[in-house]
Amino acid sequence: MVERELALELARVTEAAALAAARWMGRGDKEAADEAAVNAMRTMFDTVQMDGIVVIGEGEMDEAPMLYIGERVGMGVPPLVDIAVDPLEGTNILAKGANGSLAVMAVAPRGTLLHAPDMYMDKIAVGPECKGRVSLDVPVRENLNEVAKALDKSIREVTVVILDRPRHQELIEEVRSTGCRIKLITDGDVSPAVAAAYEDSGVDILLGIGGAPEGVISAAALHCMGGDFQGRLWPEDEEEKERALSMGIRDINQLLTIKDLVKSDDVFFAATGITDGDLLKGVRFFSRRAVTHTLVMRGISGTIRHIRATHQLDKKPLFRDNKIKIRF
Ligand code: FBP
Repeated sequence: MVERELALELARVTEAAALAAARWMGRGDKEAADEAAVNAMRTMFDTVQMDGIVVIGEGEMDEAPMLYIGERVGMGVPPLVDIAVDPLEGTNILAKGANGSLAVMAVAPRGTLLHAPDMYMDKIAVGPECKGRVSLDVPVRENLNEVAKALDKSIREVTVVILDRPRHQELIEEVRSTGCRIKLITDGDVSPAVAAAYEDSGVDILLGIGGAPEGVISAAALHCMGGDFQGRLWPEDEEEKERALSMGIRDINQLLTIKDLVKSDDVFFAATGITDGDLLKGVRFFSRRAVTHTLVMRGISGTIRHIRATHQLDKKPLFRDNKIKIRF
């Protein structure tokens, strides 16, 4: 079993990434923001007692200098874990200063997180009340009726989040025909997937096609919260199909349940808001201080912690010694 103390360590990792990225809000430079987040997250990992392998990260070794798939992170001591990271989820969101960007990660015992290829995945995410009542294998209308029943409200009161993309035109029309409320988002489907498990988030269900790596990270959070998630890979060409098969996916059309994506209950999830969102407040800067809002969860206990931290920036070795540049 992974020690529960790890949860707080993970919060420190996502906080560091969020603090570094937050400086880049609205500056239109998503590469620089991503680099800052990756750099901070990678540096902070060196202080965490674990022997981690990045299974979902910034890309293959030849395309990402840090947090690439297969990279060892942590101090190289037990527990042996798989790491799924997205140091900056919602690069476009942050570049525009819009809502919903996060620094996020999931950790689970070695070999228990799906090594999702970097391609699209069709997704459905709901909270605990709807667990076991929705499926990607049934028509959208049926799922939405089930959600309304499970949440004891009229279908016209159910809120569905969908990425605003041309590929979702048919889905959007189908959902509209049921009478449900829809929130179309420009980017960032991790935050609303997790928010579906929060009663007062204003989100009841996430539907549609987004990134497969983000799907695994969302599934880890929903696993901790007792919610539900299903995915099905959505390759765009033969090359992507081949890649998925070479990464150990046996059937490209397989319905991936939450247990296929996250095979252990001993899973941790941490996310820190960079800009404000459905789930988390963004980073606030004050005189020499910054305040972060982080969500940390652990599957075994089901405990969900909201950590509001005040960081004395000039006392933080990571930032003070110029290891991470967060000031221009
Ligand atoms: P990035 O952080 O890599 O920009 O991804 C943001 C995101 O919106 C994800 O949340 C989502 O799953 C995916 O991109 C959707 O992809 P696309 O923008 O190609 O539709």
